[in-house]
Amino acid sequence: MSEDNNRDSLIAAAKRALENSYSPYSKFRVGAALRFADGTIVTGTNIENASYGLTLCAETVAIAKAMDDGHRGGLDEIAVIGDTDAPVTPCGRCRQVLNEMAELGATDPVVYCAGSAEVVQTRLSELLPRAFGPASLSDD
Ligand code: THU
Repeated sequence: MSEDNNRDSLIAAAKRALENSYSPYSKFRVGAALRFADGTIVTGTNIENASYGLTLCAETVAIAKAMDDGHRGGLDEIAVIGDTDAPVTPCGRCRQVLNEMAELGATDPVVYCAGSAEVVQTRLSELLPRAFGPASLSDD
């Protein structure tokens, strides 16, 4: 698979996830897709709540699903997409949640931040430099 196909297929998976967004309050639909080293793709979408602050972001839902499936590391690529023309970048909390999975497998995932007009390609370490993670809790 070419690099572009790889990128486009992951963004397409994130876009399909967005169709299940439950976002009646913000009306801002977000989809996320994670690709693991074994080829597995796990998706998530944002889930809002009448108690607004309890909202779950798409990336966090995807990570929770992946953890529940037994993934502990091997996170190679992440795609995030919204309904907007401009690229959607993961919020601060999601960067931290994504970092946990990345650090478990010592990967620095490529992140595709997508909108309908533009895709920005970056790395998790660029979005969350000097991250606090599992290794920060031990001296060795
Ligand atoms: N949202 C995400 O799902 N991921 C992000 O990284 C940014 C924000 C959602 C949360 C809320 O449902 C809506 O977008 C507006 O903030």
